[in-house]
Amino acid sequence: MADTFETVGVVGLGTMGAGIAEVFARAGIAVVGVEADPAALERGRGHLEGSTGRALTRGRLTEAERAEILGRVTLTTSRDDLAGCDLVIEAIPEVMEYKRALFADLDRICKPSAVLATNTSSLSVTEIAATTSRPGRVVGMHFFNPAPVMRLVEVVRTVTTEDGLADDIAALARRLGKTPVTVGDRAGFVVNRLLLPYLNHAVVLLEHGLADRDGIDAAMRLGAGFPMGPLALLDLIGLDTSYEICEALFRESRERRHAPAPLLHELVAAGLLGRKSGRGFHGEEAPQTPSAEEKPSVSTVAVVGEEAEAGEFADRLVSAGFKTTGVEEAELVVALSRTPVVRQAVRLPHPDRLVGLNLVGEQVAEVASTVLTSPGAEQVATGLVRILGRTPVVCRDRAGFVVGALLYPHLNDAVRMYESGYASVEEIDTAMRLGCGYPAGPFEMLDRLGLQTVRDGLRDLYDEYRDPAFAPAPLLDQLVTAGVRSIRDLPA
Ligand code: 3HC
Repeated sequence: MADTFETVGVVGLGTMGAGIAEVFARAGIAVVGVEADPAALERGRGHLEGSTGRALTRGRLTEAERAEILGRVTLTTSRDDLAGCDLVIEAIPEVMEYKRALFADLDRICKPSAVLATNTSSLSVTEIAATTSRPGRVVGMHFFNPAPVMRLVEVVRTVTTEDGLADDIAALARRLGKTPVTVGDRAGFVVNRLLLPYLNHAVVLLEHGLADRDGIDAAMRLGAGFPMGPLALLDLIGLDTSYEICEALFRESRERRHAPAPLLHELVAAGLLGRKSGRGFHGEEAPQTPSAEEKPSVSTVAVVGEEAEAGEFADRLVSAGFKTTGVEEAELVVALSRTPVVRQAVRLPHPDRLVGLNLVGEQVAEVASTVLTSPGAEQVATGLVRILGRTPVVCRDRAGFVVGALLYPHLNDAVRMYESGYASVEEIDTAMRLGCGYPAGPFEMLDRLGLQTVRDGLRDLYDEYRDPAFAPAPLLDQLVTAGVRSIRDLPA
């Protein structure tokens, strides 16, 4: 008979634990929330009241509904109060020793039929299960931050999870209004295994000075269409949690791409953990307001690049009041390009006047400054981009600029994951759309961008950085060679 879960325990009422408790209570399920001491319990209560209070202010909940939800949650500092629960979910810090000790305790306290679940981001569910006398009744139930909002739950079954239990937990996730994706026990599961290497890469690029913080975030939010920039998302997840996930991935893979960026380590060591500590990559500083109206003090611009695109861009400049000329006399030379432009610059009489410009989507233009570009030319180019209604992202003249450098390896990782047999195309796309709010899953993005564009972009990145992680996945390469347009067109 399928398991029914009427009383659920949540251990650890930090951001995630409190969010998980709220999700269950909203679905009409009684919750026992446990924290280590009265102060932590009060903070947990604060999370619950804050989140439901916000829904109330926005008109998403009535006073009565809010009271009902909060009324379903019993808060306690005694683990013994979990004795009657049908399911207990652990959401304590990501330290294996703590988890093992807790699960040994839960095993002793909870009735034999109870299911014990972990919300771990990246630790081994199998290892946690092995500390109990009921490894068959232990699963991963992984929620995403903010738990009340993100619609995915990863259900993780281990080699010892008993038959049917993952299905019962998946059914429970649906009852909570979530979409489950069931996977095996590998570090990071689907989402964190794909997401964190991309976020970590953004930190590496920031540290290397490819672009500044706001540029990187704007490029991925406005250019690639992600709901948040990678550095803002790291702040949301917590830099300590992010660091731990990267460590766990690295421990399993030994890939350099998974090794936490030194800057991430430094911020964590300094106690700058993101939103939870008030400051991470983003702090409390006043936002910079660009002076959009200020017209660049340059009148003659030359546009070079692929003929049709350059012609169209030149027309837009003329409509905006600029005069277009040949490259010899132009005060600014704009090279529309998806690849580095320094070779074009050296062929000019004034290489310092050239900037690369890559139009990404409808809202962003990457402004690539070469080692020869003068600060004045860069400034003029960013002003010009703003006049054209786009957000400029100033970056160094490197393969992929910002969006390509971050996005292509991220998509490549998804192909590698599929190729490894860990998850299907549908599972990966669903997980990234619902777990991270992506406008499209990685394979949908690959189809939209074109497999060849991504494969070629990866080759450029590999040629420049020589990082094996950027070498196109063999499957991607083969699909392009075979002229297959979508991975979905492969015979089943
Ligand atoms: N708690 C509860 N509800 C929240 C919330 C929170 N912390 N933050 C936002 N919301 C709700 C709002 O109330 C609003 O709902 P409403 O329309 O019913 O009023 C809705 O979410 C949208 O909020 P906003 O309009 O304020 O903000 P945005 O539209 O900018 O959306 C976001 C905010 C949902 C966080 C969006 O930016 C997003 O999807 N970001 C990506 C988040 C992500 O990737 N999460 C996964 C991280 S990985 C992870 O968690 C795994 C772990 O192991 C590390």
